Amino acid sequence: MLKRTHTCGRLRLEDAGKKVTLAGWAHSYRDHGNLVFIDLRDKEGLTQLVFNPVTQPNAHKLAKTVRCEWVIAVKGMIQQRSEGMENPKLPTGQIELVVEQLEILNVSKTPPFEIDSAEKTSEELRLASRYVDLRRPQMQARLRVRHRVAKLVRDYFDRLGFLEIETPFLAKSTPEGARDFLVPSRLQKDCFYALPQSPQLFKQILMIGGVDKYFQIVRCFRDEDPRADRQAEFTQIDVEMSFVDSNDVIGVHENLIAKIWKQILDIDVKAPMTRLSYKQAMTDYGTDRPDVRFDMKLKDISDIAKKSSFKVFTSVVEKGGIVKGICAPGKKHSRSDIEKTLTGFVADYGAKGLAWAKLKEENGKLEFVGGLKKFFSPELQKKIVKRFKAKDGDMLLFVADSQKIVNKALAPLRCKLAKDLKLYDQNSFEFVWIVDFPLFEFNEDEKRYDSLHHPFTAPVQEDLEKLETDPADVRSQAYDIVVNGSEIGGGSIRIHKMKVQQKVFDLLSISRKQAQQQFGFFLKALEYGAPPHGGIAFGLDRLIMLLTGTENIRDVIAFPKTQRGQCLLTDAPSPVDKKQLDELNLRTQRHLHAIEQKTNDKK
Ligand code: AMO
Repeated sequence: MLKRTHTCGRLRLEDAGKKVTLAGWAHSYRDHGNLVFIDLRDKEGLTQLVFNPVTQPNAHKLAKTVRCEWVIAVKGMIQQRSEGMENPKLPTGQIELVVEQLEILNVSKTPPFEIDSAEKTSEELRLASRYVDLRRPQMQARLRVRHRVAKLVRDYFDRLGFLEIETPFLAKSTPEGARDFLVPSRLQKDCFYALPQSPQLFKQILMIGGVDKYFQIVRCFRDEDPRADRQAEFTQIDVEMSFVDSNDVIGVHENLIAKIWKQILDIDVKAPMTRLSYKQAMTDYGTDRPDVRFDMKLKDISDIAKKSSFKVFTSVVEKGGIVKGICAPGKKHSRSDIEKTLTGFVADYGAKGLAWAKLKEENGKLEFVGGLKKFFSPELQKKIVKRFKAKDGDMLLFVADSQKIVNKALAPLRCKLAKDLKLYDQNSFEFVWIVDFPLFEFNEDEKRYDSLHHPFTAPVQEDLEKLETDPADVRSQAYDIVVNGSEIGGGSIRIHKMKVQQKVFDLLSISRKQAQQQFGFFLKALEYGAPPHGGIAFGLDRLIMLLTGTENIRDVIAFPKTQRGQCLLTDAPSPVDKKQLDELNLRTQRHLHAIEQKTNDKK
């Protein structure tokens, strides 16, 4: 077999005259009557090959049989392309390889789609033939970024004295809020492992075990419906540190993020990064994942709206709801855009309507035009204009409802408008830490408290007494990091005292018996000298999405699952043999049905 001397993206004009050997896939094939051209592709790029019937008749004859995606090796001389034949788009575009010897290493069936037109091919088809899809330069580039980030992370933590320690996949479930994937045990009949939603309790136990500084690039499993930025099986950069406060954890990770952005994108990230309290984020942006690349903050106008004659607003405020709105440049949106498209958009988030007004300058004064005009006196209009600092040509959009629905509807509307109106630089990154979260949120359906993060998150020291008197007002020592509206990481200082942990379980209505059953092992460990500790986990897939500019998490995972949780390449999940189930002492509905059928037939 011909052994390659270079990769297909390496050779330049200064290599002209060199004898080289290349290997790769036939990317494209052009037969110009006497000369045959093949673009040869490998993970590094493309090199044009030329086959000449006069000088190398054998290689030329064989080249005529080659088809797309065949695997070949070629030996020959690099030459400068003739004038007018250069391709400035290719790094190798000034040269070509004049082939003297061609070896066909393997043939290929006609691929299900062309590499160059993959973007136009359905994702299902690409995932089903991922081996072809992975050959695309974009996919190779994403895999490379992923590898480089993982290596950078390992080097960074190693230098700071962290140890990478593996934690079990066959584990006991820890409460992270999602559904567990269960694995039946063959040796312990009728018992199940849970695939870890995160190594949360193991990393805390490592701190109790004196490890001091732990990290791990680790797979996590959550049986929740996949979304554009969510997979059931995803990867975290998971970290835990002892004898630290939240500033220590935040500092270490701001530096890590700055390093990653510098090395991968050559972008300087400002540190320290902005911090925003949960309360402020909800007030200004309606979400704890705000995109702060643009301003356009939400404003509460309940106090003004209740004085208007607009029944919808007054009755909502009377019932304890709120009226909030946003102000955006209004030239692009017609009345029908607002009343159909934008109203339909917020309806998907539960809003019953979208009230609006446009602003026009008349005699040096800004006035409402259309929509709400008739319900608001000039004085009230003036107050609203002032609150939004609105300008001529702006539009005001309002939702009146419970605080929850108002925020749920306006937060995505704000982002949609900013994107449609191009209010920010698509290539910029704005990082913000969200801090001072409430420790609990009240679960209206079940009339009890839930953890906003997880039950091991420590309360703020000065709020400890409020655990007894006013749990809803207790803040946690948690921090989430958000960039461009995407939550890329989150963590907290943990509870390290058994008494506080027990109190939190009580407030979460986790009974002593339940707590013992689910994480008695952990509670026991807490009683043997747990140091103060805290940590964080970053979503590696989400980081890579941002770094490679894709909004689809499947683009950054070599073998992802679809929205329906399937691997189209291997066809997982799939039924298993009855024998396998017997060993596990399990029956599926299908088997039970078959057994029932047999018994009925016998009768
Ligand atoms: P959390 O649940 O916030 O925290 O997860 C940390 C980060 O992981 C990413 N992430 C996901 N990425 C892709 N698909 C998913 N299904 C998915 N779920 C989460 C997000 C998120 O910010 N044990 C705690 C961390 C800690 O307290 O140290 C935890 O897992 O980017």
